[in-house]
Amino acid sequence: MMVSAKEMLQKAVAGHYAVGQFNINNLEWTKAILQAAEECKSPVILGVSEGAGKYMTGFKTVEAMVEAMVEEMGITVPVATHLDHGSYDGCKKCIEAGFTSIMFDGSKYPIEENVAKTKELIEICREKGMSLEAEVGAIGGEEDGVVGQGECADPNECKMIADLGVDMLAAGIGNIHGKYPENWAGLSFETLDAIQKLTGDMPLVLHGGTGIPDDMIKKAIDLGVAKINVNTECQLVFADATRKYVEAGKDLEGKGFDPRKLLKPGAEAIVAKVKEKMELFGSVGKA
Ligand code: 13P
Repeated sequence: MMVSAKEMLQKAVAGHYAVGQFNINNLEWTKAILQAAEECKSPVILGVSEGAGKYMTGFKTVEAMVEAMVEEMGITVPVATHLDHGSYDGCKKCIEAGFTSIMFDGSKYPIEENVAKTKELIEICREKGMSLEAEVGAIGGEEDGVVGQGECADPNECKMIADLGVDMLAAGIGNIHGKYPENWAGLSFETLDAIQKLTGDMPLVLHGGTGIPDDMIKKAIDLGVAKINVNTECQLVFADATRKYVEAGKDLEGKGFDPRKLLKPGAEAIVAKVKEKMELFGSVGKA
């Protein structure tokens, strides 16, 4: 069932668990994540970066593929298609393509411009029944060639953006995309606590889910995080399983080169990883 992320995240805040956003790259990825969500009876958010959207030939292709898969796979759990780190133009394209949710990453704009653009997009989302995620404080690491510095958001700025009427708020709390460096200082729970106190029931979003220790994830959920984004970790297990298949020479046995066989171990590894995360986030059985 295709839905916006609004209701599933409000339920997550009330129930003290988090819904996973898992980024998709192609048909296998999407199918694997939908399968895991259905088997776990968990709501799920499919994240689509602008780069991934382009790779899949455009957001219309993505939306049509997801909608058709939800129908043909008989998916009963709530599913949202969500633009990840959207530019202003990217948001407009996803609205047109029929996505159910968008993230407007206005962190590169001065705060006044970020506010003006966010307000405009909130209006459109309300009209269309879509949900909107905003970001305060750039989240570090590299994603689609965009490199930001790990930083902690200003809680007052978070409150101001939350009050505009966004449905979920991503705030930098020392998290970064991709693998964490050896000397990473960990999440700033002090910052998260201050943000949560000011923003109340607003579902908070934790980006850079890959490599955050389980105990920190649990503590973040306790402090109001209701959406956790995971991308790199699925890519790593997919690549690892595929490499093992090839290194074992399985592509050279019989019809092992058939893409449906070649990509199977990677897809199965994604299913297992997504299920593991849904358990950790507490979203199993919450659909
Ligand atoms: P990771 O790739 O570090 O899991 O981050 C995903 C993310 O935050 C997408 O926005």
